[in-house]
Amino acid sequence: MTGNPINKTGTFTTTNTGTPVASDNDSLTVGKDGPIVLHDVYTVEKLAQFNRERVPERVVHAKGSGAFGVFETTEDISQYTKAALFQPGVKTEMLARFSSVAGEQGSPDTWRDPRGFSLKFYTTEGNYDLVGNNTPIFFLRDTIKFPDFIRSQKRQPDSGLRDHTMQWDFWSLRTESAHQVTWLMGDRGTPKSFRHMDGFGSHTYQWINADGERFWVKYHFKTDQGNDYLTDQEATELAGTDPDYYRKDLFESIKNGDFPSWTLYVQIMPFDDAKNYRFNPFDLTKVWPHADYPLIKVGKMTLNKNPDNFFAQIEQAAFSPSNFVPGIATSPDKMLLGRIFSYADAQRYRVGTNYADLPVNYAKNAEINSYSKEGAMRYTFNDPSTPVYAPNSYGGPHADPVKAHEENTGWEFDGELVRSAATLHAEDDDWGQARTLYTDVLDDAARERLVSNIAGHMSEIDNDAVLERAFQYWENVHEELGARVRKAVAEKK
Ligand code: HEM
Repeated sequence: MTGNPINKTGTFTTTNTGTPVASDNDSLTVGKDGPIVLHDVYTVEKLAQFNRERVPERVVHAKGSGAFGVFETTEDISQYTKAALFQPGVKTEMLARFSSVAGEQGSPDTWRDPRGFSLKFYTTEGNYDLVGNNTPIFFLRDTIKFPDFIRSQKRQPDSGLRDHTMQWDFWSLRTESAHQVTWLMGDRGTPKSFRHMDGFGSHTYQWINADGERFWVKYHFKTDQGNDYLTDQEATELAGTDPDYYRKDLFESIKNGDFPSWTLYVQIMPFDDAKNYRFNPFDLTKVWPHADYPLIKVGKMTLNKNPDNFFAQIEQAAFSPSNFVPGIATSPDKMLLGRIFSYADAQRYRVGTNYADLPVNYAKNAEINSYSKEGAMRYTFNDPSTPVYAPNSYGGPHADPVKAHEENTGWEFDGELVRSAATLHAEDDDWGQARTLYTDVLDDAARERLVSNIAGHMSEIDNDAVLERAFQYWENVHEELGARVRKAVAEKK
């Protein structure tokens, strides 16, 4: 996974095209103090290359860290999916990248935020990517709101500052955010490290077994290091004293042979349950309570190798929810459907048209027979004896619907063209699951920290109408929580 290794120790410096250079230190001038000449090819190349060293940072999840590893399927779950990587005993090479969402490349690791949990499995049937977070839910349930949401979390156009008023304005106007904001303001918003957090596929996906039977599935990666968190105060202090705290922790643990691991469990919903389940099972703001659909063990992921080059292997890594393999498909989740478009589009812009050819993104364990060609920086190409179009009479690759298994990955549509936020399931409201999190999942101490974290955050709101709406938001989650937040904010103001 190292690309073309260059610059071995003990060798001589060359230009990018291999010509030996005369000096690492002195440019070529006319006389000792004269002008630098344009035909100092190496100096010109060095400055020009330097100007182009950065690619645009990811529009979200810009700050992150990653490592390579292996996923082993330890259980037999073949009754639910035919995907090669999930067959018993199969070991698959993989890459993981963990990130924060709203901050930029240099932002502190420990700012309160959800954390990204991106996985790329280099399977024998093509790359499978699962691009999730450390929360089983999200702030929204429709793709169309994502750019608005992210803008409200990033920076003001005039001052360039982040702004709590803007964040609470958006959250309190889009009440489907309540469940995720309750998570975010609790302990999970400041994990102790990337190693000490769970990961979730978050969306509902579809699994298909060898007989063509379909299931709905949710992924849960449980940390084997134990879930742990930083207090708000610890996280704030570390943001100043050690902004790369998580990055260092992950790199050093792996370097020292202390390999972090996660056990994968899934929840499986029979295909036909979806229609009458008490929550819309495709609503990303909802979980499926474990009492309804218990966790089923699948296998273990272990990260055991640091990148050799952060830029080539982590910065240029391109994860996308559109990278499926046979046996795994999408669901009607309106967030997931939008993401299936969005990531590859971002990567064609951010990294370049042929980003999938880079060693870190290359489907190295699968056959690639694609009719894609040309574009900037292309260096893979087809066997010259095969035609560049399909169909053809010369034995070029042809699509195989049996291999693709697409015919069994649909679901029922009603056929009307609508823009619908319809709540058709009995418990689809925006507050219920946030309330359950507050009343049934958190203990007294965690509830106290939640109130204090919310109050700390809300005390920076500088608009009375937004502040009042944010109080009502918490009252809607739970009357007592609302009253506690109101009191705590008043004490801080
Ligand atoms: C419709 C909603 C969403 C859109 C349009 C969207 C779009 C994007 C885009 C464009 C990127 C940058 C990709 C790149 O440059 O390589 C990204 C990164 C990411 N997104 Fe989303 N996103 C959405 C929702 C979500 C959700 C719901 C999750 C988690 C459940 C998520 C998790 C991530 C992660 C983990 C990354 C970083 C990937 C990496 O490590 O390289 N996103 N998103």
